[in-house]
Amino acid sequence: MVMPIIMSIKPKRALRRIKRARVSGAALLLMLLAPLLNANQPAIIDYTDRFHPVVSESGMVVSQEALASRIGADILAQGGNAIDAAVATGFALAVTLPQAGNIGGGGFMMIYLAGEKRTLAVDYREMAPLAAHRDLFLGDDGEVDKNKARYSRYSAGVPGTVAGLLHALNSYGTMSLQDVLKPAIKLADQGIRVTRSLSFSFARAEQRLKKSPASTAYYFLKDGSPLPEGHLWKQSDLANTLKKIANTNGEDFYQGSIAKKIVAQMQEHGGLISAEDLAAYKVVEREAVTGSYRGYEIAAMPPPSSGGVHLVQMLNILEGWDLKASGHNSADYLHRLIESMRRAYADRSEYLGDPDFNPVPVAELTDKSYAKKLRDGINLQRATASSAVKPGLTLPEESPQTTHFSVWDKHGNVVSNTYTLNFSYGSGIAVAGAGFLLNNEMDDFSAKLGVPNAYGLVGGAANAIEPRKRPLSSMTPVIVFKEGNPVLTTGSPGGSSIINTVLQTILNVVDFDMNIAEAAAQPRIHHQWLPDQVFYEEDINVDTRKRLEAMGHVLKSSSRVIGRTQTISRDERFIYGANDTRWPGGAAAGL
Ligand code: GLY
Repeated sequence: MVMPIIMSIKPKRALRRIKRARVSGAALLLMLLAPLLNANQPAIIDYTDRFHPVVSESGMVVSQEALASRIGADILAQGGNAIDAAVATGFALAVTLPQAGNIGGGGFMMIYLAGEKRTLAVDYREMAPLAAHRDLFLGDDGEVDKNKARYSRYSAGVPGTVAGLLHALNSYGTMSLQDVLKPAIKLADQGIRVTRSLSFSFARAEQRLKKSPASTAYYFLKDGSPLPEGHLWKQSDLANTLKKIANTNGEDFYQGSIAKKIVAQMQEHGGLISAEDLAAYKVVEREAVTGSYRGYEIAAMPPPSSGGVHLVQMLNILEGWDLKASGHNSADYLHRLIESMRRAYADRSEYLGDPDFNPVPVAELTDKSYAKKLRDGINLQRATASSAVKPGLTLPEESPQTTHFSVWDKHGNVVSNTYTLNFSYGSGIAVAGAGFLLNNEMDDFSAKLGVPNAYGLVGGAANAIEPRKRPLSSMTPVIVFKEGNPVLTTGSPGGSSIINTVLQTILNVVDFDMNIAEAAAQPRIHHQWLPDQVFYEEDINVDTRKRLEAMGHVLKSSSRVIGRTQTISRDERFIYGANDTRWPGGAAAGL
């Protein structure tokens, strides 16, 4: 049952709110006593908040597309657990959010199993084909051929999504694959109405998508115009692919007729993925990266994502300061954030990669004494030039088009899943007859090694292309705990800004006592060491920006929003869901 928008509040916070809100004596008494009242009594709306989460007693799914959130919530209502709902949501997003929801890409899923009190990380990142090699994307002139790296069949890694979702379901779900896939198949078969934002997004990607005849057929009308708002969009090829996955437990995708279609396309047009690559694809279960922050425990995605390592590293640096005293999004606060980001992203360029190929010094990077050393080197009055922090490669450009969803069930199981095609619509190339797009995740490798970049720097060997290796990612699905119990989960798209988006969400909740909808709505900043620029959303106060510039920071308005979180939190009584409204169409669906 979805509750009206009501919030239980801590007595200390209530007092602070009451000071601001001027309420009657009776209301004041009720507010102070609220946390002590019988659990069946509704709690009290925190009317001073400007943004409110959806509230439920029994379960929540939050994703970037409302139909997919609803499908996940329906699975919970049928008695499925969080993993069943997550897998149903993941497949549904492949139908309803073709920009980023996918079966032709890969991703990461954090799972908390309440019964076992165990957290685990499912790595279903794409793998480089066996025929890939270090200089795959270098032209004769030694420069990176961006077109080949991003928009050709060479840019596709071996897709991991189908294997990853099935691994989660088979290992930790309770429902049959047929049952969790049924809603996605129905949407693809019977069609969905194209929304305004989906039509806009087809139009925006037109040039790229039209290079692929299959993509042109799937996302455009016969007259060549993008599928318009309101159009009933049926995806029969995708529906057939999903049915084959359901009927063969995924085998057809990796070793059967779908695999043949992928390979045929590679052989016809150039591209490296072979039948052996698909058959050899492996999901890896990994230990979460763990840390602590002001009494909360953090469990986040380990390498080959850099997300968990650098989230914990930045929290460790920031824990040494009283951020609340600086004031939310003040210049003093943002300066501390920027300097922490600068140092963490410098380390990212040097040390992070696929741990199955090169050891990643996770323990060292997430050590609190290392964070203290970094913190002690930060001048609180002046920006440090990135050139003075550490030499290394410029980070490869990363696209913001990824998508995250979070699920929480009534048993306390939690799923935090981020997956992607890399760019919006990935490589733009659809598999003919199979109805889905191929990723361009190979561009997340460091394409240019041993060749000095524009700054004259060399490095990044840990993320060089190698056969069967997974490219470095920034995706940061995370679960936050208090005294061993999960209290919050979040994640975001946004390429290299994902880690900083998740960081600021956690700080908003922990340090600034915001509810998760308020936390999502705050303007964000992003710094990634190189380029030495602070990207900001326009709502960052103009005086604050001037103060930061006076401290030596170079500020640049972000041309797009920074992140889009999908967050769930929980207290003793309720489960709260918040979709970040930076893009239309998402929803928190409670039951
Ligand atoms: N493709 C974006 C990421 O994995 O971080």
